[in-house]
Amino acid sequence: MYKFDNNKKKFYVTTPIYYVTAKPHLGSLYSTLLADVACRWYKLKNYNTFFLTGTDEHGQKVAEAAFKANMPPQEFVDSFISDYKKTWNDYNIVYDDFIRTTNESHVKAVQFWLKKLIESGDIYKSFYSGFYCTPCETYVTEKDINSNETVLCSSCARETKYISEESYFFRLSAYQDRLLKFYEENPDFIIPQERLNEVISFVKQGLKDLSISRTTVKWGIPFPEDNKHVTYVWADALNNYITAIGYGNPTKEDQFNYLWPADLQIIGKDILRFHAVYWPAFLMASELALPKHILAHGWIIVNKQKMSKSLGNVIDPQVLLDNYGSDIVRYYLTRYMAVTQDSEFNIDDLERHVNSDLADALGNLLNRMIALSYKHELHEVKAPENWSTKELELRDSFWSYLDIIVQYMQDGYFYMALSTIFKFINQVNSYFHYKEPWKIKDKNEFNEVISATCHSIYSIAILLWPVMPVKMEQLLKTLNINLELKTDLISELSQNRWDKTFMLNKSELLFKKFDLNKEKDQEIKQNTSGATLVKDKVNSTDMSLENIKIEDLSKVIILTGTIISCQEVPKSDKLYKLQVDFGDYGIKQIVSGIKKSYSESDLIGQQNIFVFNLEPRKIFGLESHGMILVSKVSENDNKIVLVRPIEKVQNGTRLS
Ligand code: ME8
Ligand code: MG
Repeated sequence: MYKFDNNKKKFYVTTPIYYVTAKPHLGSLYSTLLADVACRWYKLKNYNTFFLTGTDEHGQKVAEAAFKANMPPQEFVDSFISDYKKTWNDYNIVYDDFIRTTNESHVKAVQFWLKKLIESGDIYKSFYSGFYCTPCETYVTEKDINSNETVLCSSCARETKYISEESYFFRLSAYQDRLLKFYEENPDFIIPQERLNEVISFVKQGLKDLSISRTTVKWGIPFPEDNKHVTYVWADALNNYITAIGYGNPTKEDQFNYLWPADLQIIGKDILRFHAVYWPAFLMASELALPKHILAHGWIIVNKQKMSKSLGNVIDPQVLLDNYGSDIVRYYLTRYMAVTQDSEFNIDDLERHVNSDLADALGNLLNRMIALSYKHELHEVKAPENWSTKELELRDSFWSYLDIIVQYMQDGYFYMALSTIFKFINQVNSYFHYKEPWKIKDKNEFNEVISATCHSIYSIAILLWPVMPVKMEQLLKTLNINLELKTDLISELSQNRWDKTFMLNKSELLFKKFDLNKEKDQEIKQNTSGATLVKDKVNSTDMSLENIKIEDLSKVIILTGTIISCQEVPKSDKLYKLQVDFGDYGIKQIVSGIKKSYSESDLIGQQNIFVFNLEPRKIFGLESHGMILVSKVSENDNKIVLVRPIEKVQNGTRLS
């Protein structure tokens, strides 16, 4: 049982629970790591923290994977658990509980929840017919389509399956207005805030009741008193956030009431709808408070494609760990995979940043400071009685940076907090160079420079500890400090008058530099080159006149869509940012190089033809989810001509 100190504030953070169809990859590590960084931040602030992660083990997707592996589902999921736990441990991720949805306590609590909602009328039995996407474990709501048509999933564009069966429904439609009101009153519910707009427009389109049971799937939680039905995997999985901390268990009532609602729920943007629509509605129906914040981060991209199991371009965290160690990977992911957008993972980029940020800017400052002090036989560095102007300036600027850093950390923008910490590191470096302590003869003056540098480095080490706990504890040891999490160290940083005494110890080099010209290890090359095969295809510009099969054509989804908005892209003379309405396939953003040939008014309201299922790409920092079809007039001038249907048809009509 979790022990908490009533005098402290609490922070409860969660990660998605991962489908156990394979070992964890860099994407699962990323979400889990962000939760660890947030949790460690609140440990620095001396909160009672509770960090939940785990695995999502039921449902059709897992059952099919187990079937392919020729293993019983339970044995199949069991076989991956140690890989998850080992990866989290290796990366110094300190969770308080690891929930598995096949745990008996979770199963019981979900059944308790179902019963309660059946009694209140929020869950009722009826009949479902419609389409289901197994990779996404989601129902595709399609109006008036008959069962022999092909329907593609609106989120992953893969083919769905038609199902028709008796089913229990959750009365989602009843919560539409309450949800909209909640979003309006809590504009910071979703981080980053921009993503809330997608959610609102989805809810405004109208919510249908959600089918939450299946009779054709066996691998799941049986419905109470109706064993023919098993619980839809999302209705099972989302509840993990409450069942793990004691929901439905009278002996854990205190703990549950203390920890719930969650303060921060970290997810990838792929599962935002489940967390921002279904989950709050489930909670409303259960008369429970809603989580304070949902942080929906972007994807890690490899060679311009989302890293995912089905594309086979996943990066194994273990290989990175063997080559770089935990803290460096933690740093690179937290700082350079921006929460707000998709980010390309690139191993050369990682090495470059370790060299410039960690080895040069931070490590070198520490080394020079320690070496110089030893040379001057200064081991015990006392703070001067009165600081001089330059030092006071440095301290003041730390405090103004600190305010910004605290805000970013609270808001979930960890990468921005990191870049602000590095602004301060650069400033300490400038100060050190400006002072040229190696030329100073006066003992007191020399001592003052070293003391100011020590205070700065100490503050930096505390602030970087959530991201690089091992390295920062090592750094603090060189200042003879043992990190103790007994007081609010962050507010101490803002009150500290710079009055500490530091003892300097020599230590091993904190960060080694990489030789950027060196050929990389075969293992790391293979692991991080990602979808080399897919990449070769994408890069090939040669026109092949070979015939293709009809199946090849059907891979390309070409749709009609109407341009509903068109905006200039700052600093680009070629690009427009378009929002395109694809009818039932939704609205997508497409960035297109047609500005030289068409004006905004030529485009807005016009129906055009688009390749719909192109992997998302980033162009000028903007995500593009498709391609408008054009015909080039000549190779030499940039004039292009748009291709349009001769008469207006329904948006989202397929042409291939
Ligand atoms: O969706 N970049 O599980 P899942 C960044 N079981 N993050 C990534 C990523 C990438 N390329 N790929 C995966 C499920 N992720 C459900 C969740 S929760 C009640 C149930 C991360 O194994 C990201 O957080 O498919 C994403 O949301 C999650 O893994 C999906 O993991
Ligand atoms: Mg997934």
